[in-house]
Amino acid sequence: MKIKTSDGISEYRSTWMEDGVLKLIDQPKLPHEFKIFECKTVDEVANAIKTMVVRGAPAIGATACYGMAIAALTGEDLDGASEKLAKTRPTAHDLFDALEYFKKNFKDGDPVKIADDYANQGARRCELIGIHGAKLIKDGMKLLTHCNAGAIATVDWGTALAPMRVAKNEGKNIFVWVDETRPRCQGGRLTAWELGQEGIDHAVIADNAAGFFMRNGEVDLVIVGADRIALNGDVANKIGTYEKAVLARENGVPFYVAAPSTTIDRKLESGDEIPIEERSGDEIHFIWGFNDGGLRSRVRVTPKDSPARNPAFDVTPARYITGIITEEGIFKPNEI
Ligand code: MRU
Repeated sequence: MKIKTSDGISEYRSTWMEDGVLKLIDQPKLPHEFKIFECKTVDEVANAIKTMVVRGAPAIGATACYGMAIAALTGEDLDGASEKLAKTRPTAHDLFDALEYFKKNFKDGDPVKIADDYANQGARRCELIGIHGAKLIKDGMKLLTHCNAGAIATVDWGTALAPMRVAKNEGKNIFVWVDETRPRCQGGRLTAWELGQEGIDHAVIADNAAGFFMRNGEVDLVIVGADRIALNGDVANKIGTYEKAVLARENGVPFYVAAPSTTIDRKLESGDEIPIEERSGDEIHFIWGFNDGGLRSRVRVTPKDSPARNPAFDVTPARYITGIITEEGIFKPNEI
């Protein structure tokens, strides 16, 4: 992905390794600051995934694979490292796919090459998702997306955002409604930032506004990403995806999921079996952002004694999904 910073335009990936050090685009700092976060140990990599310095299922997977490379380089026990990394975020299937990939392919060669191969394959899968998915996008369409399934949520290109990038490169005029995506605002902060970087016309909307725009006929197509897909085509994705899918059905708007094959869990028959991460209630109690002086600040919005619940993902039943865009083409959920 090309990123404009104060130093000019440079080519980046979300996660990469240089001289034994893992580098990550520091996502909690976006869109206000563009910084690179460094990890030198497996514990640091696990912590970066847990605290969402890096997030998005395919980016988590590639980062975990680099974490395994660090384990091999530093002589850490590989099973122990894999266990640490597996415990970071339970829902994203790519994490487990990446750990399996590393363990299967690493003999005694160059561990960084194994992780680079995994990252390169991931980037190519997303590029192909873009090429297939762009066929659904017609000139002048208004799309809606939830959370951030962009280049920074993958190694490059994105999943839900890849078709939009390709459509834009093909010269199609498109507009994207960006769900804010409380509580961590991955839509309002990250998707809006990525679309701005790409010059794609968009507007951020409150999470509860999608029905308004769909009912007014202002949404032609919904594309979201996925964290885990079960064999029956049920999809776990960022909390709030399910209600967008139900609204899309009610309003006759096609609802597509874009995901690489690494997100498909071939061990799970249905979405009911997908483990759903529940994060700290503090993400609900406090909102945070940057003030005019560039300082990060946190403000409490709930009464001090009110409890909160914070599931990070929900499951959209296959019956609400028009199609799943993968690197191999577009499939009906029951063809997965
Ligand atoms: O909690 P996050 O920010 O890691 O959740 C991300 C999502 O839900 C994305 O839609 C999904 O991982 C696909 S990313 C290409």
